[in-house]
Amino acid sequence: MPDTDAPATPGPEEDVVDLLLAQHAQVEQLFLLVIGSTGDTRREAFDDLVKLLAAHETAEEEVIHPLARTLPGGNDALVDDRLDEERQAKETLRTLIAGGVDADGFDTGIILLRDAVLTHARYEERYEFPQLRQHVPAGRLRALAATVRAAEATAPTRPHPGAQSAKGNLAAGPALAVIDRVRDAIRKPSDS
Ligand SMILES: [Fe+2]
Ligand SMILES: [Fe+2]
Repeated sequence: MPDTDAPATPGPEEDVVDLLLAQHAQVEQLFLLVIGSTGDTRREAFDDLVKLLAAHETAEEEVIHPLARTLPGGNDALVDDRLDEERQAKETLRTLIAGGVDADGFDTGIILLRDAVLTHARYEERYEFPQLRQHVPAGRLRALAATVRAAEATAPTRPHPGAQSAKGNLAAGPALAVIDRVRDAIRKPSDS
C-alpha cells in the first residue's frame, strides 16, 4: 500500500489545523497516484481518495466552517465560498464515481477535480486556518483534532469487494457511508 494510506502521526500537541493540513497533503498525494496509475492501482487509489475526501470535507463542514463563522472579522462570505466549493467538488466526485475509473471522461474529470480541490484547500489554508489559530484557544483546537480523529476512525475502511460492480466501478455507497458515520460521530459524542 502507498504510505499515503497511513494517517498522519498524532502527537500530544497536534491540533485540528495540523490534522487538516496533513490530510490536504495526503489528498494531493492520492490525486497524483490516481492520475499516474492504471488498472487496480488506480481503482484502489481512487477508492482511498474518495473516502479520505468524504471524511475530511465532512469534518470541515461539521466542525471547522461553523466555528470559523463565529470568529471576529466577518467570515460568513468566506465560509459560504468554501461550502460552495465543497458542494461543487462533491458533484464532480459523484459523476466520477458513477462512471468509474475506466470511463471515457475520467482522465479529464480527475484533473479538473484535483485542481478544484487543491485550490479549495489553499484557500482554507490561507484564509480560514490562520483565523482559527489566531482566535480559538489552543486547547480547544487540540480537542477538536481528537474529535475529528475519533469520528474518522468510525468510518468504514476499504469496501467489501462485493460493493463494486462487475465493471469494477466504485459504488457510491462507501463514500456515503463515510459521510454518514463521520457526521453522526461528530454530532453524537461517543459517551452519550
Ligand atoms: Fe474543505
Ligand atoms: Fe480542507
